Amino acid sequence: MTYSLVEIPREATPDSADGWMFHQSAGVIAAALRASIGDDESALNAAELWALGRETPGGFGCQAVILDGAAPGRVVAFAEVDLPMKDNLISAHLHSWVHPDHWRRGLGTRLEAWQLGIAEEFQRTTLITWVAAREPHDDEASITAPEGGSFAADLPAWGFAQKHCWMVEQVERTSRLDLPVDQGLLDSLRAKVARASSGYEVLSHVGPIPSDWVDGLAELHEVMSVDIPTAGLDFTPEKWDAERVLSEYEMIRNMNREMVLVVAREISSGRLVGFSDLAVQRDSGDGKGFQWNTLVRRQHNGHRLGLALKLASTEAIMAETPWITRIYTDNASENGAMLAINHAIGYQLANPTVAFQKRL
Ligand SMILES: CC(C)(COP(=O)(O)OP(=O)(O)OC[C@H]1O[C@@H](n2cnc3c(N)ncnc32)[C@H](O)[C@@H]1OP(=O)(O)O)[C@@H](O)C(=O)NCCC(=O)NCCS
Repeated sequence: MTYSLVEIPREATPDSADGWMFHQSAGVIAAALRASIGDDESALNAAELWALGRETPGGFGCQAVILDGAAPGRVVAFAEVDLPMKDNLISAHLHSWVHPDHWRRGLGTRLEAWQLGIAEEFQRTTLITWVAAREPHDDEASITAPEGGSFAADLPAWGFAQKHCWMVEQVERTSRLDLPVDQGLLDSLRAKVARASSGYEVLSHVGPIPSDWVDGLAELHEVMSVDIPTAGLDFTPEKWDAERVLSEYEMIRNMNREMVLVVAREISSGRLVGFSDLAVQRDSGDGKGFQWNTLVRRQHNGHRLGLALKLASTEAIMAETPWITRIYTDNASENGAMLAINHAIGYQLANPTVAFQKRL
């Protein structure tokens, strides 16, 4: 069987003449997810694949497909390489998916060779990829990350990782919140927050980022990049400025999503001391929202601001984007504080996500 690898042209968009590559790749990803973990909830649509894979806030991406020689114009695999350009210059972030009808024919290996070529061209020495996995049953073989967190060992990516010398560095927990959350629960959490957080105000906003928040958000993003548990992953502090904050918003709009942003402000100084941002589908779509960051500066811990941020964003979504039926969030397995807050609001643990790393 013959296959050909084609790079997606940089100027391609889902609506351009080459747009079929994004649309078919979205189908390949959904099929690969269903075959490897049993559901395709974390699949991306064509607009999301395009927006996330091109000019990202801190870098840029390259994307390629593999076409089936026996069925001209049919995409059977998709891969991308995201290259940070403002910081983390030793790293490349990779993703690849092969349609299950074409597994074990060397296509994953071929995609990796293409990705390695780009990483080497840009002198990257650490490769990182994140893979959705499945929770192991009690009596099932499982793999555990050095800092904790396990996944079922029959994951195809684990077989591939062993063959190609990738290490398991971290297992994240994906959790899911079904909306609407019971009003009685929200009211009791709000009372708890109010008692602990006098001296702060929590403000939420859906839509373009308020201009007087932008500089404060850039600072908070820099703190976020070093404050979350990163296990053995080779992450170095990120560099954020106003332009990067605004370009992230632009990317979210290109994904046909809207940003839900919540900040915690210290009343005495007027400084932003915490934030939480989510991207939710802009129209009814398939009703999904995705939590991105949540951070409270260490000096301001202990005032239940983490819970206050999450509570405010949940209420903003229920009030302003009522078509959203569920929110997903990923947290390191060892991030007990964040997992406890999510649990209090009603998040249920869903599948693990594995971070694999390979040093060249
Ligand atoms: C992981 C994935 C990309 C592998 O694609 P593939 O085209 O089947 O991979 P290859 O044929 O190049 O496999 C190369 C080697 O990896 C190992 N391997 C791949 N899949 C495996 C599996 N299910 N079980 C055990 N080993 C496996 C084998 O050693 C294989 O060589 P062999 O077939 O000669 O024994 C594919 O299963 C997939 O799309 N999974 C879902 C998405 C995903 O997890 N992506 C991972 C990176 S983001």
